[in-house]
Amino acid sequence: MDVMRIEGGNALRGRVRTGGAKNAVLPIFAATLLTDEPVVIQRVPDLSDIRFMADLLRELGAEVTDQGGGTWRIHAREVGHVAPYELVRKMRASVCLLGPLVGRCRQAKVSLPGGCVIGPRPIDLHLKGLERLGCRNSIRRGYVEVNASGLAGNHLYLGGRHGPTVTGTANIVMAAVLAPGVTRIESAACEPEVVDLCRLLQAMGADIEGVGSHYLKITGVDRLHGCEHTVLPDRIEAGTLLLAGAITGGEVTVEGVVPGHMRALLDKMEEARIAVEADPDAGTITVHGSREERRAVEVITLPHPGFPTDLQAQMLATLALTSGISIITERIYPNRFMHVPELLRMGADISMEGPSAVVNGRPALYGAPVMASDLRASAALVLAGLAAEGETWVQRIYHLDRGYERLESKLATLGAKIERLPDSEMPSEFKEE
Ligand code: EPU
Repeated sequence: MDVMRIEGGNALRGRVRTGGAKNAVLPIFAATLLTDEPVVIQRVPDLSDIRFMADLLRELGAEVTDQGGGTWRIHAREVGHVAPYELVRKMRASVCLLGPLVGRCRQAKVSLPGGCVIGPRPIDLHLKGLERLGCRNSIRRGYVEVNASGLAGNHLYLGGRHGPTVTGTANIVMAAVLAPGVTRIESAACEPEVVDLCRLLQAMGADIEGVGSHYLKITGVDRLHGCEHTVLPDRIEAGTLLLAGAITGGEVTVEGVVPGHMRALLDKMEEARIAVEADPDAGTITVHGSREERRAVEVITLPHPGFPTDLQAQMLATLALTSGISIITERIYPNRFMHVPELLRMGADISMEGPSAVVNGRPALYGAPVMASDLRASAALVLAGLAAEGETWVQRIYHLDRGYERLESKLATLGAKIERLPDSEMPSEFKEE
């Protein structure tokens, strides 16, 4: 296993470009199963989660080719309907195969994803939506089995106790585009990644109205065809890079972004007196300024367009170095605070009050060996390491590789002293038991 060694204390400076959004690519790859014609997807980041999804599509019978330079071609002439546990267990997002299998095969058998460190991750809303579309679902031996012979459009509501569901909306939209009749989805998720999926489906011939809102109207069509699609930029990667600039008190311009997708983050950064400048025409955002003038803020994660849960950990790390008391409340995954105990090991002052972290900003953090627990927590630890005094070793960085393409190279181009090493290089007193 690799580890990341970071020598903290360098203010990052320079320009860096974001890649395509992981959370858009995963359902988009799944959606290619809806047609027997080839679909070409561009700006696909090189991530382990994407490779898992490619393996799953191959297992289902699709021809999946990485053409290089971020272009993938997927041709699902024939499609099997069983997604096995051995592959699904590697990635929760495999559940977004349910919708396309229902649409294309009128049946699906997909291993149920378990929980993960960020929370239990149920799929009751996905199943409720499928039932409303005339499917009969059963759960047997760890698999959800769907009989969709009666698939038909209907009116349904997808809101849950934590708001709309992102992959649940993706699943229902993908099932509905080939369902006879009209489907109306209320409380649909409107994350930019859901919008990108809808754009792909429209390019394939689907009839979807209301894209980008909480109300979608889908009129089923008989068949979909191939197309080419370029994935939208990754707003979470962009936000992580901006916060890397902010936490180190540097000046970083992130290129290839859509500032309109990142309003809640930019607004919160401004409130914390972190200077940010967005240029929507150029597709850039620049963060600059010293850490001196900053002030504590309250952050609440919410469904889009609210502050994204996927940037909560990185924002928390930044606020751990911002004087004053900040409060961060997690409304999407109330237990998504695995990074907190690790940040405490670096000298942060954070206490938990239910789903809120009370962060007493400190003037400095100190390098330490820390353990990554999930994708975004890993990013937060890397950011803290960049700003900390001394050396930080982040272990279990395979979590990071699931969602960030060569993060250490991008940070190194900004002047970060960061390197990926085999864990044999780690001082023995730091190694996990
Ligand atoms: N929920 C239910 N029932 C359901 C589905 C969801 O109660 O049937 C709850 C969840 O437990 C959670 C909330 O609803 O409390 C929102 O979950 P959602 O379904 O929207 O999450 P997801 O689709 O499983 C996607 C991203 C996550 C991101 C969330 C929230 C992908 C592949 N994953 O997950 O990304 O945190 O939306 O925005 O798109 C990440 O990239 O690190 C990541 C975890």
